[in-house]
Amino acid sequence: MKKKEVLLDIENLDVHFATRRRVIRAVDGVSLKIYKGERFGLAGESGSGKTTMLLALLRMIKTPGYIAGGTAVLDDGTDLLTKSLDDFRKIRMERVTMVPQGAMNSLNPVMRIADQMILTMREHGDKSEKNIIRARVEELLVSVGLKVEIGMLYPHELSGGMKQRVCIAQAICLNPNLILADEPTSALDVVVQRQIMQTLTKLQQKLGASVLLVGHDMGLMAQFAERIGIMYQGNLVEVDTAENIFTKPQHPYTKSLISSIPSFERKDRLELQSENKVSSQN
Ligand SMILES: Nc1ncnc2c1ncn2[C@@H]1O[C@H](COP(=O)(O)OP(=O)(O)OP(=O)(O)O)[C@@H](O)[C@H]1O
Ligand SMILES: [Mg+2]
Repeated sequence: MKKKEVLLDIENLDVHFATRRRVIRAVDGVSLKIYKGERFGLAGESGSGKTTMLLALLRMIKTPGYIAGGTAVLDDGTDLLTKSLDDFRKIRMERVTMVPQGAMNSLNPVMRIADQMILTMREHGDKSEKNIIRARVEELLVSVGLKVEIGMLYPHELSGGMKQRVCIAQAICLNPNLILADEPTSALDVVVQRQIMQTLTKLQQKLGASVLLVGHDMGLMAQFAERIGIMYQGNLVEVDTAENIFTKPQHPYTKSLISSIPSFERKDRLELQSENKVSSQN
């Protein structure tokens, strides 16, 4: 087997929130390597620090929160946690990007879809001529399974699933190496969820990017992720292949997470995942 190359090496990440009564250690000494081209799932109960961890990697923690320690080094030696915020603007979107929790509500309601995508690209320094940038928007829309005509519509004219696809297209417009996706499908029905995860998998393979997917739904995790990490009270308590997490969970919290999924669904999802693996090799 080819040796896996590390894309992002997170060591001892600490993120604290200083509230009036106490300091909350939302992320407490988390170390994790994300490999190039891998689909990594991060699961764990509500409040365990998943979103905080992703926001820290993008330097988007707001007061009273702060990064209290640690490093997160990309393959070129860049430490995401110590770069100046000015330098960071370039890294965000171009190397690391995020599809935020509830992303579809982040679209601008009074701007046509294509125009918002063009604006995002312009803001990140794309000076291409109008027709070239329009063609790029069309290509992006098609790559997330939407019709080109969607670009002329306003967000309220789209379904939730379509909006979420637009957010994914927007997130990948600068060909990032790492896509952070925070529960990108949690507000959608299960069929649409599954389709969007398939789209994300296809895109990830096409771009050769790595994806760090946060979610509660262990079924969806089994469908998507090659490796899974479990967060519990700010700690990363277990990291293993998806198969081992489902068949040989070690930590008591992982065990309880897995046992909450009906066994037939687990089997079905794992089989689906191995089918995906076969098809992705073709
Ligand atoms: N702005 C804030 N001020 C104070 N505490 C915060 C703030 N944001 C998050 N926290 C705390 O940090 C911890 C982790 O929150 P976080 O949002 O990362 O959890 P999560 O794992 O993403 O949960 P969910 O699955 O519900 O999205 C929680 O204890 C939360 O109360
Ligand atoms: Mg969250």
